[in-house]
Amino acid sequence: MAVTLHINGSATRVEADNDIPLLWVLRDQLGLTGTKYSCGIGVCGSCMVLLDDMPAKACRVKATECAGKKITTIEGLADQADHPLLKSWLELQVPQCGYCQSGQIITAYALLSNKRDPSADEIDQAMSQVLCRCGTYPRIRQAIQQASELMRAKDPS
Ligand code: FES
Ligand code: FES
Repeated sequence: MAVTLHINGSATRVEADNDIPLLWVLRDQLGLTGTKYSCGIGVCGSCMVLLDDMPAKACRVKATECAGKKITTIEGLADQADHPLLKSWLELQVPQCGYCQSGQIITAYALLSNKRDPSADEIDQAMSQVLCRCGTYPRIRQAIQQASELMRAKDPS
């Protein structure tokens, strides 16, 4: 069936069988390969996207269920190079192999969008949804804390 998806600010019409996960539509039909396929069973978080600004695992959401929702993939953050989170990620050289990192950034972005001053425990809890085989967690936490400080310094309200 044809379904209209709102991805990264644009409405896109795609053909999607009832059961096809959003992940396959993003990667195979639309070439948005920044969203990664790893476990495929909702465990690793490499496929994390934002659905109506909340993190969601694209391998576990049917594309047809996403009609009418706002979908943001890592490509959708490309025009936000000045965002403190992305700057901190680069400055602190967070990635190692990089495979999990779009899922990490999407999840961290959602965390800071909803809470500008998360505690270390809140960061760890939010980020536990995304597994990093390379063990970049200390740098991930540091980058989120640095971004949080920058955001609050820029806009203390
Ligand atoms: S590929 Fe979706 S959670 Fe692992
Ligand atoms: S940076 Fe390699 S899996 Fe996370």
